[in-house]
Amino acid sequence: YGISQQGQAVTAAPAAGAQSAGKLTILYASQTGNAKGVAEELKAQAGAAGVAVDLFNVADYKVKQLKKETHVLIVTSTNGEGEPPDDAIEFHKQLKAGKVGKLDGLHYGVLALGDSSYEFFCQTGKDFDEYLQKAGATPLLGRLDCDVDYEGDAQGWSQSAVALLKDALQVEAANHAAPVTSLTQGSASLYSKKRPFTAELITNQKITGRDSDKDIRHIEISLEDSGLTYQPGDALGVWFANDAALVDALLEQLGIDAEVKVKVDDEMLSIREALINHYELTQGYASFVQAYAELSGAKKLQKLVEDKAALREYCANHQILDIAREKKAKLTAEQLQAALRRLTPRLYSIASSQAEVDEEVHLTLGVVRFEQKGEQRNGGASSFLADRVAEGGQVRVFIEHNDNFRLPANGDTPVIMVGPGTGIAPFRAFMQEREAQDAAGQNWLFFGNPHFTQDFLYQTEWQRYVKSGLLSKVSLAFSRDQAEKVYVQHKLKEQGAEVYAWLEQGAHFYVCGDANKMAKDVQEALVELVAEHGNKSREQAEEYVDALRSAKRYQRDVY
Ligand code: 2AM
Repeated sequence: YGISQQGQAVTAAPAAGAQSAGKLTILYASQTGNAKGVAEELKAQAGAAGVAVDLFNVADYKVKQLKKETHVLIVTSTNGEGEPPDDAIEFHKQLKAGKVGKLDGLHYGVLALGDSSYEFFCQTGKDFDEYLQKAGATPLLGRLDCDVDYEGDAQGWSQSAVALLKDALQVEAANHAAPVTSLTQGSASLYSKKRPFTAELITNQKITGRDSDKDIRHIEISLEDSGLTYQPGDALGVWFANDAALVDALLEQLGIDAEVKVKVDDEMLSIREALINHYELTQGYASFVQAYAELSGAKKLQKLVEDKAALREYCANHQILDIAREKKAKLTAEQLQAALRRLTPRLYSIASSQAEVDEEVHLTLGVVRFEQKGEQRNGGASSFLADRVAEGGQVRVFIEHNDNFRLPANGDTPVIMVGPGTGIAPFRAFMQEREAQDAAGQNWLFFGNPHFTQDFLYQTEWQRYVKSGLLSKVSLAFSRDQAEKVYVQHKLKEQGAEVYAWLEQGAHFYVCGDANKMAKDVQEALVELVAEHGNKSREQAEEYVDALRSAKRYQRDVY
C-alpha cells in the first residue's frame, strides 16, 4: 500500500491471499479535519478486517466514478448554515443535479458530523443520503448524524459498517490474520490528536498595540525531538486546561465538593481535576442548557431551548458558569458531569514555515475575552496559551494536516492572499516558504484590521518582504481609521481589474479568517469583480469561480 502523498489515494491492500470480492471506497469531506480523522480510522478498521479500501477526499473524486463502485462510505461535516464544506462543494453540486445517473449497483453509508445547535444540523450528510437514494443506490446501513462529541457514536457506526462490509464483500476470516498497519500520514509521527506531543512554549508576545480592542498574540512553540513536521497551510491542534478559578466558581455555584471523585474514561479523578482537564466550560452549548433547564427548572432556559436562533446567540456569550447562574440549583458531581461535553482541542492555522523556523511552530492567536454581568470571561485554549502557560511551560500539541490549503506546486505561479485579522497566519507561513524557495511567482496580500497604529500584525515583516520584492503588492483595509468602514472585499473590488488579470495569468486565490461574514463577502466580491472585468453574466462569473475551486486555485481556511 502506498504512503499518502498530497491528493492521492491511499490504498490498503488486503493481507496476502485474501479473497475479497470487491473493495470499499471511503470518501470524506472535512473543514476542520474531524471527518478526515474519522475516515482514516474507519479505513484502518476496515483494513484490519481484511477489506480492501481506497480513501479519498471528495475534492479528488469524480462523481462519475460512483458508477464503478459497489460499496462507498461517506464521512462528511457540514458548514454553519447547512452548506457542504469547501472540498465537497463540487461533488455535492453534481450529485444534487443528478449528473451521475443511475447507481443501482451501489451500496452506501453516510456518517454525518455536525453541531446540533445549528438549524441545519448535519445537512450535508442528509443531502448525500437523499441524493444517493434518489439515484437508486441502496443503504448498507442507516445514516448516523453525530453531534459535536461525535467520537463514541462514530466509532460504533464504523464498527457496524465494517461488520456489514465483511459479509457483503465476503472477506474470509482466515485470510486477514495479518493486521493492516495504517500508513495514512506521510510523516507518520508518533504523535496525534489522541497522543499529543508535550511541547515547550517558547514565546508569547502581544502583537496588537496597547490601545487596541484586540489581544492578539504571536506564539512560538518548540517541536524539538518530536519528529513532527508540517507544511504551510497546516494547523496546530492545541489541548488546554481550564482556568482553576473558573472551575472553583462553578463548583461553588452548584454546591459540589471539589474533592468528590468521578470516573473519567477509566480513571478516578476529583471533580475539580476532571473539570479542569476534561470538560468544556468556556463555551455555552445546547445540551448543557437543556440539561440545566431541566435540573434547575429555570424558565428562561426552558424557553431558550425552544428557539434555536436565540439559543445560539445566547451561547455565544454565556459560559457554563453563566448558564448555571441563571437559576440556583444544587447538582451532584455526576449530574454535572453528565450534562457537560468532553473537552476538544482547538486548531490554529500555523503562521510559520519549517524552511524558516526549523523545529518551531508559530501561531497568531486571537485571545477571546468578553464581559458577562461585569465579570471577565476568557476563551478556553486562547486564554490558556496567553495567560496560563508561562514561557518555558508545557503545552500538548499535534499537527492537523490540511491538503486543501496549499501553495501552488509551481513557485512561478502568482498568489493572492486575503487574510484579515488572525486570518493573516497562514500567509506568514506562505511568504516564509516562498522566500526560502526563492520562488519567482508574484505575491499579493490583502490584510485588514481595525486600526493601522494598533492592529497591523507583523507590519515590519511585510515591509521587509515588499522591500526585497517578495511581496509585489499589499492592500490594506483598516476598517475604523475613517468614518466609513473599509474591508478587504472593498479593496478587492477597487483593484478588481488587476485581481482579474492575475487570475487570468493563473494566480491562486486564498482566503483565511472569519467564515460567517468575511469569507462570504469576499466570495461575493470575487464573483462581482470577475463578472465586471471578465465581461461575464452573474452565472458565468459563478462558474468561473467554481472552476477555480475545482482546479484548487481558490482555497479557503475559514472558521
Ligand atoms: P470591524 O471590526 O471594524 O468591523 C479583522 O477582524 C477585520 O475584519 C476588522 O477590521 C473588522 O472590521 C473586519 N471585518 C468585520 N466584518 C467584516 C466583513 N464582513 N468582511 C470583511 N472584514 C470584516
